[in-house]
Amino acid sequence: MKDIGATIWFTGLSGAGKTTISSEVAQRLRTRGLKVEVLDGDIVRQNLTRDLGFSRADRDENIRRIGFVAQLLTRNGVVVLVSAISPYQDVRQEVRQKIGSNFIEVYVNAPLSTCEERDVKGLYKRARQGEIKFFTGIDDPYEPPLKPEVECFTNKESLEQSVAKVIDQFEVLCNSAVMSSACL
Ligand code: ADX
Repeated sequence: MKDIGATIWFTGLSGAGKTTISSEVAQRLRTRGLKVEVLDGDIVRQNLTRDLGFSRADRDENIRRIGFVAQLLTRNGVVVLVSAISPYQDVRQEVRQKIGSNFIEVYVNAPLSTCEERDVKGLYKRARQGEIKFFTGIDDPYEPPLKPEVECFTNKESLEQSVAKVIDQFEVLCNSAVMSSACL
């Protein structure tokens, strides 16, 4: 069986649901016998990009490094699930171009108010109190994707619905001329 390589890139605010959806997608794809790797912002930042902070230059560098690893894995037949805020359109576009056609951008879209209510890590509260500066959505920008292949509205749809959208789009990619039917 030919291994299929692709990058599925989840972007969105902290707490929007990127990690939750990507973990579930990873599980589903693994059960199909695909090789899957997850590059999650929080984990990458503890390993590959420990030296970086949250300035625009550092965030862009974070995304470039993640993109580079994703590119290598993708061309070696791995399905790479990236989950990072990746707030800037330009560098997301740069990575998309480097990886080429086997790239799916997933905008995990939840209103700031929802993310703030969830506040899973307690970081929004700290940002509002001024303890954390340049927090995305509070005092740092987030540029939504212009034409994502998939958009998940995690305040309105179930996890199952969001996951299904991503898997459906992955299947579209698999069925495209470039791909074999290896992932089905
Ligand atoms: S990115 O902007 O460079 O793509 P990344 O996804 O790697 O960000 O890391 C975001 C995570 O870092 C958040 O989920 C949160 O846990 C943590 N974090 C710490 N400080 C900030 C900040 N100023 N803005 C956003 N996230 C932050």
